[in-house]
Amino acid sequence: MPTRVCFVCLGNICRSPTAEAIFRKLVADSGLADAFVAESAGTGDWHLGEAPDARSVAAASARGVVVEGRAAQFTAESFDRYDYVLAMDTSNRTNLRRMARGDADRAKIHLLRDFDASSPSGSNVPDPYYGGADGFDGVFEICLAACEGLLDRLRAGEPPAP
Ligand code: 4NP
Repeated sequence: MPTRVCFVCLGNICRSPTAEAIFRKLVADSGLADAFVAESAGTGDWHLGEAPDARSVAAASARGVVVEGRAAQFTAESFDRYDYVLAMDTSNRTNLRRMARGDADRAKIHLLRDFDASSPSGSNVPDPYYGGADGFDGVFEICLAACEGLLDRLRAGEPPAP
């Protein structure tokens, strides 16, 4: 059975599709495509069905990563489909915790950047939506460092801390 992970932000057009694409590439480059399923979703519904933000696509494309997919919404039932649910920021995490139906759901929720050993505990992937292109470059680098840490942890068979 593959390990199933879902990256979650607000709109599912900027940060979480970027993290999903990076994680998928890391997994594929490691020859582990069969061992993981990576998806993404948003807690909000404003952009449902939309393609990823062109600025996210451009920032990732410049680094050899293809960001694609259509925005979907994370709901309480979504917890059933994943082993790990990675929130981009503490606001997303709060929303996910509210949605959780019990301890089993809650245990799946983690903050993505907590897997980057070089970032302080509780760090956010900043929301780039209302900013400039450099914000999207920053989001890419932040997601890359965190996804590398996440994959290392999962490969080592070390479950994330609650
Ligand atoms: P994301 O970015 O959560 O990283 O996809 C945002 C996208 C849209 C909005 C906010 C953040 N919005 O307010 O529409």
